[in-house]
Amino acid sequence: MSVAPHLANDRLTRDIVYPFANANFMARNPPLCIEGGEDVYVFDGRGKRYVDGQAGLWNVNVGHGRPEVKQAIVAQLDKLSFYSMFGNTTTAPSIELAELMCRLTANEEMKRVFFSSGGSEAVEAAIKLVRQFWRLSGHPGRTKFISLRLGYHGVTLGALSLNGRTPYREQYEPLLPGFFQIEPPYLYRNPFTSDPIELGRICAELLEREIVYQGPDSVAAFIAEPIQGAGGVIVPPPNFWPLVREICDRHGVLLISDEVVTGFGRSGSMLGCRAFGVKPDIMTFAKGINSGYVPLGATMINGRVAAAFESDDDNEFTPRAFMHGNTYSGHPLACAAAIANLGIVERENLPANAAAVGGYLLQRLNAIAPRHPNIGDIRGMGLMIGIELVANKATRRPFDLSERFGARIWERCVENGVLIRNLADTFIISPPLTLKREHADAIVDVFDAAISAVERE
Ligand SMILES: Cc1ncc(COP(=O)(O)O)c(C=O)c1O
Repeated sequence: MSVAPHLANDRLTRDIVYPFANANFMARNPPLCIEGGEDVYVFDGRGKRYVDGQAGLWNVNVGHGRPEVKQAIVAQLDKLSFYSMFGNTTTAPSIELAELMCRLTANEEMKRVFFSSGGSEAVEAAIKLVRQFWRLSGHPGRTKFISLRLGYHGVTLGALSLNGRTPYREQYEPLLPGFFQIEPPYLYRNPFTSDPIELGRICAELLEREIVYQGPDSVAAFIAEPIQGAGGVIVPPPNFWPLVREICDRHGVLLISDEVVTGFGRSGSMLGCRAFGVKPDIMTFAKGINSGYVPLGATMINGRVAAAFESDDDNEFTPRAFMHGNTYSGHPLACAAAIANLGIVERENLPANAAAVGGYLLQRLNAIAPRHPNIGDIRGMGLMIGIELVANKATRRPFDLSERFGARIWERCVENGVLIRNLADTFIISPPLTLKREHADAIVDVFDAAISAVERE
């Protein structure tokens, strides 16, 4: 598949350990080397154009090569490329960005931001903030975390311990003790009901049962993605999140919304939790915070959590100090990129565009689905859409991955200039939020032709 004319195929894989990849597979199937990008398009080394139906990795929300973001990075680079946030120094872009983020999350009553370099680090910081919050609040026994099966929160050992997918976990066990997963509200595949509202109620009740079973005084927090992304775009029924908030409140458990994918517009709302009318205690961000122009992660806390870290004592090593930080916390280039990026998200009202074009994509996909015996389910919200393929539509039997059904569709899509992600035979469409209807048409037409061809084979 290599189309990097200046790189011999073996060089694409010889020296790199690729993420989530088998080395032999990669050597036999050299990756597509992307060398250019402009708005919703990316280009390979031969200049072939692709619609970027995955926005890089659901992160390039404002599109590739935006001059406003580039100029902000260059202007910052001309002033200062890096200085530390440790040891009583700081830099201006982090301060400006924190103010902006507090304004954008004022409705959710977020009060302070901790900066890191990506989603896993943002989640890791959330775990440590929660543990320390409970110690500082006089409840050191509240240490356990509950999350959802099929949830994805990152790869560092804390974040990984929250993940709910066996292949990500099993090679690295034992994971951290005190981390538990419950069934997600996955309408297409669950042992309970086909009624969404009933499912929302049942899954929320499972959370309450787990809290009671663990002993509420031992449970620190529940964390979930507002819409489960890497688990296959699982959109919860509308009653799920409000019930979760009620249950957390009833048992004094903190609620963390992992907004790494949903944050800043992708779901069609500015925040995923806002789409469901819920105010969490903590939020984690990365990806769309600056569309991936420079790595950045952020963890936000509300007034209740922030208050535990405040005291009259100004000894810098008091237990109230958050004993956590990354060299690149608040990296000036990343923060400058984020300020410019969030400016575009607001000015161009990209959440509204995500809702409109996402709705159109869903409508077009639902129109082609009946013609395809192997499209089991189509679901999504905003510009996060999942197409779940099945070997048998009536029984919902999944494909054996060794049949490479999804992989063959993916190859045809690439040949025909569309990049969409194939995760365990659920195709994920998560393009830049600047996507227009004509790009949505291109994605659907190419996918439609690709699955038709593979079904005929
Ligand atoms: C919801 C969620 N949380 C956390 C992460 C981890 O982010 P990163 O890959 O930047 O470490 C991801 C990555 O996809 C994610 O989707």
